[in-house]
Amino acid sequence: TKYIGILTSGGDSPGLNAAIRGVGKAALGHHGMHIIGFRDGFRGLMENRTAPLDGGQLSGILTSGGTILGTSRDKPHKMPVGGKILDMTDAIVGNYYDNHLDCLVCLGGGGTAKNALRLKQKGLNVITLPKTIDNDVAGTDITFGFDTALGIATEAIDRLHSTAHSHHRIIVVEIMGHRAGWLALGAGIAGGADVILLPEIPYDVEIVAEAIRERARGGKPFSIVAVAEGAVSKQELAALAERTKKPAKGKVNRKADDTEADAAAILYADRTLRLARKLEQLTGLEARPTILGHLQRGGAPSAADRILATRLGTACADLIAKGTFGVMVAAKGEATRPVKLEEVAGKVKTVPQDHPLILSARRVGTNFGD
Ligand code: F6P
Repeated sequence: TKYIGILTSGGDSPGLNAAIRGVGKAALGHHGMHIIGFRDGFRGLMENRTAPLDGGQLSGILTSGGTILGTSRDKPHKMPVGGKILDMTDAIVGNYYDNHLDCLVCLGGGGTAKNALRLKQKGLNVITLPKTIDNDVAGTDITFGFDTALGIATEAIDRLHSTAHSHHRIIVVEIMGHRAGWLALGAGIAGGADVILLPEIPYDVEIVAEAIRERARGGKPFSIVAVAEGAVSKQELAALAERTKKPAKGKVNRKADDTEADAAAILYADRTLRLARKLEQLTGLEARPTILGHLQRGGAPSAADRILATRLGTACADLIAKGTFGVMVAAKGEATRPVKLEEVAGKVKTVPQDHPLILSARRVGTNFGD
């Protein structure tokens, strides 16, 4: 009999419970394995905080949001412990063996795959499932959580449209996605945003303002600007480059990337608010910022995410039964397939600038600020 451990790591995502259920029910019912959960990501495995999953806990969770196991962004090799950051990989490996595990299933994105790869390199059998609302995991067509967040962000844009229209305002709506713009692009198209700003396409705020003024001249004195959390303007990029040239104040022996992180933190703080103010200034129209934030991650998964999570979860149990480890279970068209962790770990799947969706959005007049 095989013993499976399972944990959820990184930001939560609708469909995590459906995936836990998919892995668990297939493993227990179909393959006759045992399954045990670890709480709060890699931290729970390090602290050996377990959660039983073979006593009915998998029932009634298909439709629920969040993760019944809890999650954290902790990494095995950089774990905050007693005020220090320590490499706790060996403790995690020890608990894997103490629990007699044959495989550890990690539900997470590209960062989680990187952590799992480290454990694979220590000799553990690991498998990951791709979850994130950002849809930015390499090697898979799609991640679970994305479809739900897309629905929420689209509905938000629909609602913002009517109020923007009534007040003749610009509404700048910030959509999650700090490195990839899939969510802002999808919701922007589905919600008919007039401007979509993505991390992949640095924008010029003057071009955005002119697109809005042009709409006003054409009798539409309201606009929706869908901005991905990580979108950057050409002006911000220039300021960032300038700042990183100089040593940060008071830091003599700083590392180059310290300064970059400091500079980015300063530049990115309140940027949606600042963008709204700037557009107000440049267009003479009133502007309001709306940050959708974690609303996009909460609540029940959509039907599509429940289906995807179930597909990937059950395929995961089948791979364990076959003894295929060191992979992420990816969605490829209607099929699922194992992809080596090395091909996924730490990678970010960004939106290509010539992606068909971008071209299509341009055809209907969407402005990308470039
Ligand atoms: O990766 C998922 C995500 O929701 C990103 O879109 C967002 O930038 C980030 O997590 C927010 O993280 P946190 O939950 O730590 O605020």
